[in-house]
Amino acid sequence: MDDRELYQLAVKARERSYSPYSRFRVGAALLAMDGGVYMGANIENASYGAANCAERTAFFKAVNEGVRGFEAIAIAGGPEDADVLEFCPPCGICRQVMREFCVPEHFRIILGNSKGEIRSRTLSELLPDSFGPEDL
Ligand code: THU
Repeated sequence: MDDRELYQLAVKARERSYSPYSRFRVGAALLAMDGGVYMGANIENASYGAANCAERTAFFKAVNEGVRGFEAIAIAGGPEDADVLEFCPPCGICRQVMREFCVPEHFRIILGNSKGEIRSRTLSELLPDSFGPEDL
């Protein structure tokens, strides 16, 4: 599974977005160490604060299946009436959720767009000096 393939699965996951309020559709594809892929989309709510991001949907699905080791996540997000024109970086809450289950120097966050551009960053680049389980 290379970065482009994982990104294409994130584009596919975006089809399941439930986002009638923001009309901003996001999909994520999370690659586990064992090769499994867990897909997620953002799920919004009439009580806006109860929305769940695509990345956390994917993580919670995987963790609830007993998976704990992850290599990378690809994210595809943008307004509902268009292709994914811009990169969609993960929000701060999702970065912290990734921190719980990933090695920051190794786990990679892959962003893409419909122009065919792909960007890869480690979690430690996106969340430096982070607080994690071993700090407790
Ligand atoms: N959203 C995600 O699912 N992931 C991100 O990385 C950024 C934001 C969702 C939350 C909300 O449903 C919508 O996009 C607009 O913020």
